Amino acid sequence: MYPTHRHIQLDSTNVEAKRLAEEGAVQGTAVLAAHQTAGRGRLRKTWYTVPDKGLYCSIIVRPALVPEDYPKLTLTAGLAVATVLGRVSGKQVQLKWPNDVYFNGRKCAGILAESSSLATDPITRFGIIGIGINVNQALEDFPPELQGIVTTLSLEKGSSVVIEELFEDVRRELLLQIDRMETHGFRVILEDWKKHDYLCGKQMECVDIKGAIIRGLCMGPDEDGVLHVMDKSGKQHEVLSGDVRIADKSDTG
Ligand code: BTN
Repeated sequence: MYPTHRHIQLDSTNVEAKRLAEEGAVQGTAVLAAHQTAGRGRLRKTWYTVPDKGLYCSIIVRPALVPEDYPKLTLTAGLAVATVLGRVSGKQVQLKWPNDVYFNGRKCAGILAESSSLATDPITRFGIIGIGINVNQALEDFPPELQGIVTTLSLEKGSSVVIEELFEDVRRELLLQIDRMETHGFRVILEDWKKHDYLCGKQMECVDIKGAIIRGLCMGPDEDGVLHVMDKSGKQHEVLSGDVRIADKSDTG
């Protein structure tokens, strides 16, 4: 049994999980909140929390990974969440690099992976896998600007979902996928991740590692988890992070 800390309300489960990890909490320790007042997404965005209707959790991991491999945790966690959502809904799930989980082009879940300073001793190093899943919300529970772009697990499944059971499934699958990565390498994770790839083969727009806006054909992530985009001249660009979006139909790159 892994320790689980349940809260009625927190600012962000990632913040509380980080505090526990700094005190030495073991791998698999999780923080759950029924409501977050300052839920965080990637790139300083906020995560919209509907009290009691979604899964908002952060799981502490202490993987046997070198610091350079920590960014791969985001894709590994995405695969774990997609696997569980696929199982529960019986539907195809898509992964939008690096951290979004979609049904039919609508966002259902997001991952915010953070870590301790990776320069520290491997013994004290840790990762925090923050996971937000839209579960039992109705679309009207979201602000109007989100209603056209999100979905929820219960809408996809056609019936409501027990959040506590979903959480246990997600934690089990996350730890299993991390164990697989440690044992067999990231290649096996990537192979499965690509089966869900939402962007590969589409025209997209993003910011490359030098900060330049590039448009081109998405080639999918490489063996380090870095996304590749080919512009119209045939040059390949690497995208390490940042916002990626499908280009408008008029943008041919
Ligand atoms: C994203 O889509 O940008 C990532 C969203 C991650 C949201 C979850 S909710 C639980 C955990 N606590 C946070 O503050 N954020 C993550």
